[in-house]
Amino acid sequence: MAAILQTLTLMSVLALINSLDIRVFNESHIQEWWGPKELQGREDTSIRPAKIHFDNKMIKDLQKRLRRTISFDPPLEDSGFTYGFNSDAIGYWIKYWAEEYPFKQREAYLNQFPQFKTNIQGLDIHFIHVKPKVKSKKEVIPLLILHGWAGSIREFYDAIPLLIADSRDRDFVVEVIVPCLPGFGFSDPTNRQGLGAAHMAVIMRNLMHRLGFERFYIQGGDWGGFIGSNIATIFPQEVLGFHTNWALVMSSAPALRSLVPVAPLIMEETGYLHIAATKPDTLGIALTDSPAGLLAFLLEKLSTSVDHSNRQLADGGLHNTFPPETLIDDVMFYWTTRSMATSIRLYAENFNKKYQALGVERTPTTVPTWVTQGKFELNFQPAEILKTKYQNLLNATSLDFGGHFFAMELPQVYSENVLIALKAFRAWHQTQKA
Ligand SMILES: *[C@@H]1O[C@H](CO)[C@@H](O)[C@H](O)[C@H]1NC(C)=O
Repeated sequence: MAAILQTLTLMSVLALINSLDIRVFNESHIQEWWGPKELQGREDTSIRPAKIHFDNKMIKDLQKRLRRTISFDPPLEDSGFTYGFNSDAIGYWIKYWAEEYPFKQREAYLNQFPQFKTNIQGLDIHFIHVKPKVKSKKEVIPLLILHGWAGSIREFYDAIPLLIADSRDRDFVVEVIVPCLPGFGFSDPTNRQGLGAAHMAVIMRNLMHRLGFERFYIQGGDWGGFIGSNIATIFPQEVLGFHTNWALVMSSAPALRSLVPVAPLIMEETGYLHIAATKPDTLGIALTDSPAGLLAFLLEKLSTSVDHSNRQLADGGLHNTFPPETLIDDVMFYWTTRSMATSIRLYAENFNKKYQALGVERTPTTVPTWVTQGKFELNFQPAEILKTKYQNLLNATSLDFGGHFFAMELPQVYSENVLIALKAFRAWHQTQKA
């Protein structure tokens, strides 16, 4: 009964969003200003080298806060992670972060790739840009890689060297551009309302233009998947191919019906989404002040979305998939930049009538698209449904392993899959010319 009620609630929320007028995103948004008013017209449009910096004052303050964390009441017997982050499991992480996480060594690790900043529409955007070192005369193709929430550019560190490697099997090599989304990590947040996924799509596309790429490929998961999909929808003539490890189409009754079997899971696992979509700043105050709270909130997501059965484990399975420094690296992108509130506002900027009325998510795109999802995504929609949005869908596969943070969990599989898709996009363009 509860599951039926939950399903009906979900369906009615989605139906409401869906019944709104469709208005395609228009040209006036393309130079929209998101920075402080006084900066307009005076922004620095140069491309400047940038680095990630963990300063000593921040580290000392963080350690002090972690050491002062109060002791929590015990979890319920045998509750694992089903009530949220298990309070018996948090002690390890607080101690690890304060006493063992090697801040300076991780800072150097995170700075291993060339990084830059440039101002787009009023916001300084921080990004990794790695060009392959190849002697051959092969074509070098640009790939924009987009992260999502609870994640960061850290997700791609193991995959980047694999993606840019030369191979006899390919007549191209890849250069990667991996930005922090606005309000996430080291990119500026906006101070204005309304910066949704379609607006971020414009910013990311304008970043590519700034770097001299008028046509490019995109990879993304989570919000990065939505934003990549929006770039492909708003600028179909500029996107040569779109690879995503999570696609979600909600623009028709069959698409919504395809979610019914997973509605109970969606309801159980997306409480965070509702609060982020409605009162992000309240959560922001709590979690910007408390590193233990931030850690619990972010790592609970990393636990569950890697494997749903992790919810049954007392440690959330957090020790099985990623080394502790990898997880804390990701948390650092939120802590050191105080980007909890500014990142989750993205939910609020999308789940509202004004944004939905733009209709970008419901507008189909002709960009060749490749969907490969891990087993533990919340849902997998079959090709017939994905094709209503992605008219040139070249592949839709749900693997029998892997979760939501696919690139970070399985960098080898992820990179191979993306490279196979890039090859397929290029072959597809050849057939279009013929
Ligand atoms: C689709 O992708 C999967 C892996 O994600 C691969 O095994 C399969 O061969 C691909 N199919 C085609 C037609 O390329």
